[in-house]
Amino acid sequence: MNPPRTSTPGAGSPDRGEEPDRTETPGRDRVLVRPTAPGDIPDLLKLSRTIYSEEGSWKARELLLHQEIFPEGQMVAVGPRSGRILGMVVSLIVPIRRWPVDAPWREITDHGRLTTHDPEGDTLYGAGIAVRRDTRGMGVGSALYRAREDLLLRLGLERIRAGARISGYREVADRLSAWEYVDQVVRGERSDPTLSFQLAQGFRVLAVASDYLRTDKASLGYAAVVEWTPSPEACSSPTSSTAF
Ligand SMILES: CC(C)(COP(=O)(O)OP(=O)(O)OC[C@H]1O[C@@H](n2cnc3c(N)ncnc32)[C@H](O)[C@@H]1OP(=O)(O)O)[C@@H](O)C(=O)NCCC(=O)NCCS
Repeated sequence: MNPPRTSTPGAGSPDRGEEPDRTETPGRDRVLVRPTAPGDIPDLLKLSRTIYSEEGSWKARELLLHQEIFPEGQMVAVGPRSGRILGMVVSLIVPIRRWPVDAPWREITDHGRLTTHDPEGDTLYGAGIAVRRDTRGMGVGSALYRAREDLLLRLGLERIRAGARISGYREVADRLSAWEYVDQVVRGERSDPTLSFQLAQGFRVLAVASDYLRTDKASLGYAAVVEWTPSPEACSSPTSSTAF
């Protein structure tokens, strides 16, 4: 077993530079989403390290373990022409009532190892999402979320739950409580790089967790606990063109 993580994806230093990908203009409808394969791991490590601190990045052994534990939950978005990895998601299934609504990421995901995955659970839990910095704002994250929604429908799960680290909070923490900040983002009075993305995916905020990602400097550890549930019509007709 791996030792407990001292940091987490989403935690640590802000994004570091990477070479712009000038070969792709992804666009929500053209991004291909497929299951992660063991051969993707070097690229996923590269992606993870450009976003998180070395300490907070995913490790190869964790990514391999995720594929053993719940292969369908691990997905990558690839460029339509190059096949290059543009983004990734890590997911697991949990019986959500096992934890309080504001439980930390490390408890729900077993420090990112996903040994808490339970195929009998009712909830698809978003343990991580990351998109290359140079292809953000082009629909890659949305395409990955559509794929998560399709997975939820295929598996007959009830909801997607995640913690959206409020990565713009530190800037205003001397003036606003985390709740006030989240409230302003929900009302559209303020934008947050992660929570605004989750809200745009149709998530609603259930709670604010104060110790979600303890080592995440940008959010000071705070996250908005967010949830998405499918509409009754969606339950009868999965729609996306996810390539499986
Ligand atoms: C959050 C993240 C996954 C979004 O991915 P993305 O590919 O840029 O998202 P999309 O292009 O699909 O954006 C979809 C919508 O989200 C919203 N959105 C995305 N980024 C946003 C931002 N920085 N500020 C405000 N809204 C944003 C927009 O409404 C956008 O809709 P539009 O296309 O109509 O403008 C990406 O920024 C990322 O990898 N961040 C670093 C890692 C991270 O924080 N992960 C979350 C851990 S909890």
